[in-house]
Amino acid sequence: MIRPATTDDRLGILVLLDRCGLLHPDLTYDTWSHPTLVAEEDGQIVGMIQGLIGYPQSYIADVAVAPEYQKQGIGRKLYAAVEQVFKSAGSQAWCGLIDAENAEMIAAAPHLGAASVRGGAIFVKTLGDN
Ligand SMILES: CC(C)(COP(=O)(O)OP(=O)(O)OC[C@H]1O[C@@H](n2cnc3c(N)ncnc32)[C@H](O)[C@@H]1OP(=O)(O)O)[C@@H](O)C(=O)NCCC(=O)NCCS
Repeated sequence: MIRPATTDDRLGILVLLDRCGLLHPDLTYDTWSHPTLVAEEDGQIVGMIQGLIGYPQSYIADVAVAPEYQKQGIGRKLYAAVEQVFKSAGSQAWCGLIDAENAEMIAAAPHLGAASVRGGAIFVKTLGDN
């Protein structure tokens, strides 16, 4: 199930990001702005995505799926859900920054419809009518 994150999800998101190596040591993760969505399986947080709404383009700030749930379509569902929020808000595209050493995410990005631009680890997906 993909749903908006609530304050009760804070620990689950923290554990997830830690397991995926995405926690920044200098930040606290007590509050998440909208839209932050989570994937829940059997009461556990197994995926999350945070978008930052903007015009003309929005941003994907964080995305993670628990290692044992990866490559089962959860990431695709999370992207599809946040894209609906972006489109409802009038965004024409989303961008995401990917660590140049994150070969897995760089490989997955084209499958999610995002193309690398400007020769760097910036990926952009234009939001169409679907
Ligand atoms: C990136 C991530 C969110 C993808 O989530 P996921 O649930 O595994 O993705 P899905 O199963 O929905 O796959 C979506 C598409 O990406 C492709 N894909 C996923 N991981 C891939 C990989 N390592 N290499 C190549 N393609 C990959 C899938 O094949 C699928 O495409 P397809 O339908 O055309 O076959 C997940 O691997 C993850 O959390 N990684 C660790 C955290 C991270 O690096 N986050 C990004 C920070 S910028």
